[in-house]
Amino acid sequence: MEDIKLLQEKVKEEAEKKGIVILAHHYQRREIKEVAHYVGDSLQLVKYFKDDKRKIGVFATVYFMAETASIYASDLGKEVYIVNPKAGCGLAESITAHQLRNLKGENPEKEVAVYVNTYADVKAEADVVVTSAAAVEVLKNFDEMIFVPDYNLARFVEERLGKEYVKWNGSCYVHRQIKPEHILEKKEVYPEAKVMVHPEADPACWEVADFVGGTGGMIKYVEKNRAYVDTFIVGTEIDMATSLKMLFPELNFVPAREDAICYQMKMSSLKKLYEVVKNLPEENRVLPPGEFSELAKRSIDRMYELVGR
Ligand code: 13P
Ligand code: SF4
Repeated sequence: MEDIKLLQEKVKEEAEKKGIVILAHHYQRREIKEVAHYVGDSLQLVKYFKDDKRKIGVFATVYFMAETASIYASDLGKEVYIVNPKAGCGLAESITAHQLRNLKGENPEKEVAVYVNTYADVKAEADVVVTSAAAVEVLKNFDEMIFVPDYNLARFVEERLGKEYVKWNGSCYVHRQIKPEHILEKKEVYPEAKVMVHPEADPACWEVADFVGGTGGMIKYVEKNRAYVDTFIVGTEIDMATSLKMLFPELNFVPAREDAICYQMKMSSLKKLYEVVKNLPEENRVLPPGEFSELAKRSIDRMYELVGR
């Protein structure tokens, strides 16, 4: 415990000295989130990085989140680093640009929406990028579409908007294992609790959920309901519960499954974060994705224009 506090102090000192902003996703380890200047969902993190005055961003996230920020970095005179460059995402890896081009060839009349959990070469093939927080709001402006790669998220938006998309069979191994029976087991212990579920989870969970949405949406849902209930069952990666506890220490947050762990996020550690902040090693630098930058940026900016935030 003492060691953690000491290392946290050293991270903060080093970041302050070098003008570094530390950004962590909600699924990150708590001891990292405690020293991050910003903790957010995938939509917010890029915005925080763009708006912050510091010139060096260190991302304690999976790679695609840092890559998305890197697309904006050079125009802003900024640099992006990642705590662990090997931190991938099974969902992002489930589709290649080549596969998406084939799908476009088979559906030439359809526009293309791509989930933010993809790499820049795939985003470059899209007309618009969406995050789970923005998907419904953005896609209500479109009709016939290809929407890849997360099948469950695409089904969720289809149901909300009464539309039908050409989908891809991609999924997140952390979320697809969350089933209604896990939620119902927790409901037996906490019958008054409200249930929140990420749209990447098994669609059968929607039936037993009070709220379905991304991590940022879950925070808003708790804010709205905290006056009526003090326990929330959290149907997403386990560390979302630690993010919520940091924000609302007086409330109880129960993960739907204790083994819903994103091992790629956990490839960052406080010690690694300290080494990156101290040495800014070249191998941790995330350079903009070259020829894909401009097209990917156009698709991401379209989302920001449509959500107005
Ligand atoms: P959010 O967009 O809700 O932050 O989720 C990102 C993610 O990786 C979900 O698995
Ligand atoms: Fe990717 Fe799933 Fe981890 Fe999210 S939780 S970053 S979709 S592997």
